[in-house]
Amino acid sequence: MKITLAFVLFLQLLISIGCALDRSQFPQSFLFGTATSSYQIEGAYLEGNKSLSNWDVFTHIPGKIKDGSNGDVADDHYHHYMEDVELMHYLGVNSYRFSISWSRVLPRGRFGEVNSGGIEFYNKLINALLIKGIQPFVTLNHFDMPQELEDRYGSWLNSQIQQDFGYFAEVCFKAFGDRVKYWSTFNEPNIIVPYGYLFGGCPPSRCSYPFGDCQSGDSTLEPYIAAHNMILSHATAAEIYKKKYQVKQGGKIGIVMSSTWYEPLRDTLTDNLAVQRALAFDTAWFLDPIFYGEYPPEMRQILGSRLPMFSVEDKKKLGNKLDFIGVNHYSTLYVKDCMLSQCESSTSFGEASVYITGEKDGHPIGDPTAMPSFYVVPYGMEKILMYFKDRYNNTPMFITENGYAQASNPNVSKRDLLNDAGRIEYLKSYLTSLNLAMRHGADVRGYFVWSLIDNFEWLYGYTMRFGIYYVDYKTLERTPKHSAMWYRQFLAREKTHRKVLSSPVAGTYHFS
Ligand SMILES: *[C@@H]1O[C@H](CO)[C@@H](O)[C@H](O)[C@H]1NC(C)=O
Ligand SMILES: *[C@@H]1O[C@H](CO)[C@@H](O)[C@H](O)[C@H]1NC(C)=O
Repeated sequence: MKITLAFVLFLQLLISIGCALDRSQFPQSFLFGTATSSYQIEGAYLEGNKSLSNWDVFTHIPGKIKDGSNGDVADDHYHHYMEDVELMHYLGVNSYRFSISWSRVLPRGRFGEVNSGGIEFYNKLINALLIKGIQPFVTLNHFDMPQELEDRYGSWLNSQIQQDFGYFAEVCFKAFGDRVKYWSTFNEPNIIVPYGYLFGGCPPSRCSYPFGDCQSGDSTLEPYIAAHNMILSHATAAEIYKKKYQVKQGGKIGIVMSSTWYEPLRDTLTDNLAVQRALAFDTAWFLDPIFYGEYPPEMRQILGSRLPMFSVEDKKKLGNKLDFIGVNHYSTLYVKDCMLSQCESSTSFGEASVYITGEKDGHPIGDPTAMPSFYVVPYGMEKILMYFKDRYNNTPMFITENGYAQASNPNVSKRDLLNDAGRIEYLKSYLTSLNLAMRHGADVRGYFVWSLIDNFEWLYGYTMRFGIYYVDYKTLERTPKHSAMWYRQFLAREKTHRKVLSSPVAGTYHFS
């Protein structure tokens, strides 16, 4: 018996140090993919009868984007999609997360025709993926929307948007739902709202002092209205899917959250309570209403009547429940209490009275990356997953984004960018932490690397590269970085290695 135990421990050691983590340590049905979004990669911003999106308009305002760039061309994925599907096939992924450009499919929202050119583009993409055995995992709204909805009625500030979003969702279910089995309503509503209506750095650039410097807006009121309309827009789309399409089409619908983990800056009761407030004003702001029909208690206590109410009708709609939570996880940050302590600034989460920082006594929480608040803190992956597991009854989760940014400017050579050892280490360590969360019972069903290819990184333009494929923006040529080769190997080891793991002794490590 002792020898067997020693042998098991020896094998465990081999697996933990000798053979690195690989695909065989995840369930066979697990989705492994790469992720992108429409505005960041497609380009062709005026082709095929597409209208201007809010981001097309915003990026053309001088001074908004760090390097003065925009997504007019981006990776020109619109014309290179077959090549991009080929890149994924080479990697050996079984799924691909992308978003549909609302302004390509419905140039005027519900006020105009469905654009057959837009439907055709996504049909071609979806069919090309399926031929290669790659499941489409589709986001309906990843930041970009028709500018007309902003100009007509103020987009998320107006309850009319619920009707528009429901209409858009249904057009997509109808057109693509026979082949698309994974739908996300929103990507990171908990980023769109604060950046659009609290700090105002992103469209529609609304905010007020002291939270930001905008021409108009009200940071003490509008974020809560915009979020409310987004939550109800989600519920509208989910209700349409559940009532009219899910049985027939057999897919799942969820929402994707920016999911940062927070650690208390000091091990005090007040900083621990501040962590709870940060989590409440971040992910629970959206997820609590969807799961429980109420905003989190920490928000209600502070904001009182400024939080809109959910009517009986609303709550009924929200009762449709999510099939999954999409988790975009990159980093962990410290939280300091600002109710009882003096803080440098306390506007990070509006009125949550917390200060968010990546440093403690001058030491970063993890290795910094090119993205300012993204540090390498692998254990945060397990912690955020266990938090969602406990708070939301272990609803199935997908890691819809996880990735590593490299700084880029014309002085950084292609050779250096291809040699992305830092990214490989990052992905390995985060996947290990994800694996641990699953062994501790978190119901995670898939993982998507952000991103397939270098792309337009919003306010940072092209100064940051998240791709596992390098893109030369002059020639649009794609080249695999070392991380792409690593991911390919990670996925390929499944077949040979799974055999070893399912032998009687090593079977201990197998889980389903
Ligand atoms: C764009 O719209 C025009 C006018 O409706 C139509 O003739 C044309 O075929 C459309 N083009 C595409 C690519 O859908
Ligand atoms: C590139 O290098 C030149 C010369 O050393 C320098 O002047 C310039 O600021 C650098 N550009 C960037 C974007 O770092």
